[in-house]
Amino acid sequence: MLPSIPVGVLGATGAVGQRFISLLAHHPWFELTDLLASERSAGKRYGDAVNWILESPLPPDVANMRVKVACANGKPGKPGSPIGARVLFSALPSEDAEEMEPALAAAGHYIFSNASPYRMTADVPLVVTEINPEHLNLVKTQQANRGWEGFIVCNANCTATHLVGALHPLDLAFGLDKVFVATMQAASGAGYPGVPSLDLIDNIMPHSYGEEDKVQEEPLKIMGTLAGGTIEPASFKVSAHCHRVGVVDGHYEAVSVALRRQATIDEMIGAFRSYRRLPQELQLPSAPDPAVIVMDQLNRPQTRLDRMAGNGMATVVGRIRPCNLFDWRFSLLGHNTIRGAAGGSILNAELMVHQGMIAR
Ligand SMILES: NC(=O)c1ccc[n+]([C@@H]2O[C@H](COP(=O)([O-])OP(=O)(O)OC[C@H]3O[C@@H](n4cnc5c(N)ncnc54)[C@H](OP(=O)(O)O)[C@@H]3O)[C@@H](O)[C@H]2O)c1
Repeated sequence: MLPSIPVGVLGATGAVGQRFISLLAHHPWFELTDLLASERSAGKRYGDAVNWILESPLPPDVANMRVKVACANGKPGKPGSPIGARVLFSALPSEDAEEMEPALAAAGHYIFSNASPYRMTADVPLVVTEINPEHLNLVKTQQANRGWEGFIVCNANCTATHLVGALHPLDLAFGLDKVFVATMQAASGAGYPGVPSLDLIDNIMPHSYGEEDKVQEEPLKIMGTLAGGTIEPASFKVSAHCHRVGVVDGHYEAVSVALRRQATIDEMIGAFRSYRRLPQELQLPSAPDPAVIVMDQLNRPQTRLDRMAGNGMATVVGRIRPCNLFDWRFSLLGHNTIRGAAGGSILNAELMVHQGMIAR
């Protein structure tokens, strides 16, 4: 058996950080060695620092670990214990990630980020493992540009992750022209404690324009083409309307698509059901198989019933029917803190280990 790879979690006490911990607790390749959070939590036992909100129990060995301050090794003004792990999964808030992630990458760490500041940066790969694994090669350009031994690889926005999960099979089969999406996003997407309950209960909250920009822009980078160290964005257009609703986990999206080549309903379903990509072929530990699940029942997917499909790593599609404005419309559902965040990062890291880009 190969030795496990030490990994740490930045922002370990938050909504995404807790998902990382539950997914890494019994991971076959990675060993959780470093838990990092703000000065509020630093020095405490993890079990005392965290307000554990997941259904699965907090692993007792993790509860007894000490939380460290997230900082670059030896960075002046940010005292904290040195970070042992080279691989760091980041669930930092955007404003903290913007400063800390490059400092940590410069110090030699491999950062798998869930934060937004560097997603659209030209030399930072924005990767959904099934769709654009070849974009991971951009880390070589990034390291050359910046003189870093480490790197930053980003995950997409949680809503965009599941949207591209469903769009990519259609683009491969028929070509995409236009996409309209209206979202109903879970409360946990805003972190913990997140949106005040009196804003969320009995209410639907329009999302900030920033969220809509991410859902419109990130798919074009992810489904773009890497050539000569730069990514040429895909050319289809996305129009997004984003809303927060009072469910705990699981982002729901109502999608209409205009295709470049006409498709029958059987061809649409066939494109989703035959979608098998590198993570499935390699049987990476966190890969869902299938990556896209098509439900036949007219009243599915439903958030509470279907968000854990494929251990929360699959995108669930249903209600495929003709669209009066575009060609086809359908509903999709995906888990926001698993595939849309922690699980997606871990799958990217697994592929980099498999490809020898992270040494075992
Ligand atoms: N929630 C989702 O569905 C989702 C999906 C995709 C991406 N994201 C992104 O993932 C990131 C984390 O989101 P979240 O929902 O987990 O947020 P969250 O619940 O608010 O957690 C934030 C975490 O960051 C830590 N932190 C705060 N300030 C810090 C500082 N100055 N230095 C070091 N650590 C600090 C907090 O530690 P303390 O407990 O010590 O304060 C906590 O562990 C964000 O960038 C978010 O946009 C979230």
